[in-house]
Amino acid sequence: MVDDSVKQPESGMEQKEQSSSTPSLLSAEKLCKSFGGIAAVDNAQIFVPQGNITGLIGPNGAGKTTLFNLLSNFLRPDKGQVIFDGEPIQHLQPHQIAQQGMVRTFQVARVLSRLSVMENMLLGAQKQTGENLLRVWFRHRQVAQEERRNKEQAMSILESVGLAPQADEYAGALSGGQRKLLEIARAMMTRPKLILLDEPAAGVNPTLVNQICEHIVSWNREGMSFLVVEHNMDVIMSLCHSVWVLAEGKNLAHGTPAEIQTNSQVLEAYLGN
Ligand SMILES: Nc1ncnc2c1ncn2[C@@H]1O[C@H](COP(=O)(O)OP(=O)(O)O)[C@@H](O)[C@H]1O
Ligand SMILES: [Mg+2]
Repeated sequence: MVDDSVKQPESGMEQKEQSSSTPSLLSAEKLCKSFGGIAAVDNAQIFVPQGNITGLIGPNGAGKTTLFNLLSNFLRPDKGQVIFDGEPIQHLQPHQIAQQGMVRTFQVARVLSRLSVMENMLLGAQKQTGENLLRVWFRHRQVAQEERRNKEQAMSILESVGLAPQADEYAGALSGGQRKLLEIARAMMTRPKLILLDEPAAGVNPTLVNQICEHIVSWNREGMSFLVVEHNMDVIMSLCHSVWVLAEGKNLAHGTPAEIQTNSQVLEAYLGN
């Protein structure tokens, strides 16, 4: 459960009003993906406005993770197009999409247990100078500077999420919730415009859920946009400016959290689950 300390972002109302007029940072229309003849995502659309925290909900098996995989190009759609920041992204690899400013986390956090927390963070750094400089001495200096900057940035993010004391511990020694937090923190290393979070609160204790929510709100205030899949309705209702509902791969509803909460079709879809 989320306590009262996690509120709708102060600027939420302005952003909600803005969202109808601002262009979408991420949009997809008529997306389809089938597995062995079963339509996991069936003609779905979604729009994620710049500056907002957008929610994506739906019963188990509704197609949320598949939609995430399509939006981040981990899966190719059978039909439809995804536009990020004004450009179609179907020809880009996930790491290139990350360079364009969109990153995602996974329903089951993918951290490397045998590496330290700091090493996991450094894997999130991009634009490393590395191999392409000819002047060896100059390169050494530049790489060293870059490594120092990356470490400083990693430490500052770890401090902000309360994981700095564990920086030198194996990531495998963290709790499930801390691993999720580390995965989100690592995504922040690229300073993304948009971050896609797949069930950030699943399996996480309530205290840490509240902390994760507070970080999301604070990163959103700094200008970062979010698309969040989550089963914990308190999280969705307290964080999101607008919510999309999927059921059986199709769009079922879209609206403000208050509208979604009282939508009879949405309630039916959940009760039928
Ligand atoms: N790789 C896959 N191969 C076959 N079926 C899949 C695959 N991924 C998802 N599905 C099926 O697609 C549907 C949607 O799954 P998913 O996107 O994981 O839903 P959600 O995240 O909303 O629970 C389910 O019926 C699931 O069994
Ligand atoms: Mg899922």
